[in-house]
Amino acid sequence: MKLLVTGGAGFIGSAVVRLAITRGHAVVNLDALTYAACLDNVADVAGDPGYSFVQADIRDRSALDATLARYRPDAIMHLAAESHVDRSIDGPGAFIDTNVMGTYTLLEAARDYWDANGRPETFRFHHISTDEVFGSLGPTGMFTETTPYDPRSPYSASKAASDHLVRAWHETYGLPVVLTNCSNNYGPYHFPEKLIPVIILNALAGKPLPIYGDGSNVRDWLYVEDHADALLTVLQKGAVGESYNIGGENERTNLELVQTLCTILDGKRPKESGTYSDQITFVTDRPGHDARYAIDPTRIRQELGWRPSVTVEEGLERTVQWYLDNEPWWRALQDRDGVGQRLGSAK
Ligand SMILES: NC(=O)c1ccc[n+]([C@@H]2O[C@H](COP(=O)([O-])OP(=O)(O)OC[C@H]3O[C@@H](n4cnc5c(N)ncnc54)[C@H](O)[C@@H]3O)[C@@H](O)[C@H]2O)c1
Repeated sequence: MKLLVTGGAGFIGSAVVRLAITRGHAVVNLDALTYAACLDNVADVAGDPGYSFVQADIRDRSALDATLARYRPDAIMHLAAESHVDRSIDGPGAFIDTNVMGTYTLLEAARDYWDANGRPETFRFHHISTDEVFGSLGPTGMFTETTPYDPRSPYSASKAASDHLVRAWHETYGLPVVLTNCSNNYGPYHFPEKLIPVIILNALAGKPLPIYGDGSNVRDWLYVEDHADALLTVLQKGAVGESYNIGGENERTNLELVQTLCTILDGKRPKESGTYSDQITFVTDRPGHDARYAIDPTRIRQELGWRPSVTVEEGLERTVQWYLDNEPWWRALQDRDGVGQRLGSAK
């Protein structure tokens, strides 16, 4: 297949690009190269004859039309987004612009392209979304595909809005869409403002390891390469108009997660004295911090036969090792705007 991947220079998009090229697909990576992008993430496949890159913004309709006309993809995998909850608290406008208006613009460009080509049934518009659209769980229960939407941050509200637009373009115009809502990802090339890289890099630098609130918030962690595999599975086997929840069934409190990372680091790069856990510091909580997310992945497992290949213990080991082995990659990103600062704490 020829895939147009938006946001392919980001964390998850680049994992999709690398896997798709490895599996023999052609990929057009369309990315605006915001602060969160890094083309080094796709350096391993950038020389492949099936790979192309277009620097463009998903809000730029004429650039989208030109890209679709030139490359004629069989499917669009839409990952481009503003993705950091803390930044959405400080500046929600960028999230509405890109995640809502950008998705609208991309849907309209896709609809015209699909119409102009005789509305092929095999075309797919795959919208990649988050479990955060479902809101916050108590101590029990899990999100399924029929859980009502209840977003609580500007980020999750903008993703919920974009999900609704994608479903509406299917119901109203017949555009062949699939949607996925995934839990928290982690792994190589994770931008150094997100929790896991922050903890690894602060630990190595001897800095405090910041934990929001009391660390009891629960997240369900999935290795990014397993997410990329799930996305290609849904793209190729998912039913049109349907959504699939993707999760690793690996619930951890933030405090447990950070302690696990400290233990791995203690083994791989021991401190002269003490343990990395000594650097743990509790800081003011994020406003509106969702208590718990948990995905019920029964549908994707039973209907499409997908399951994660990596346990969270193995995935975290690999991730820590990757950061130890790839210092030039993360050092180059630490100067970017806002990285290393506390964001999103203002009420
Ligand atoms: N990170 C997670 O744990 C997670 C979980 C579930 C779903 N998601 C969703 O997956 C997608 C990718 O997430 P990520 O963590 O890789 O994000 P990321 O922030 O690492 O990457 C986003 C990419 O999109 C690009 N981009 C941003 N605005 C753009 C615009 N206007 N036009 C074109 N490109 C633009 C950026 O340059 C960047 O390369 C997002 O839609 C996100 O909502 C993320």
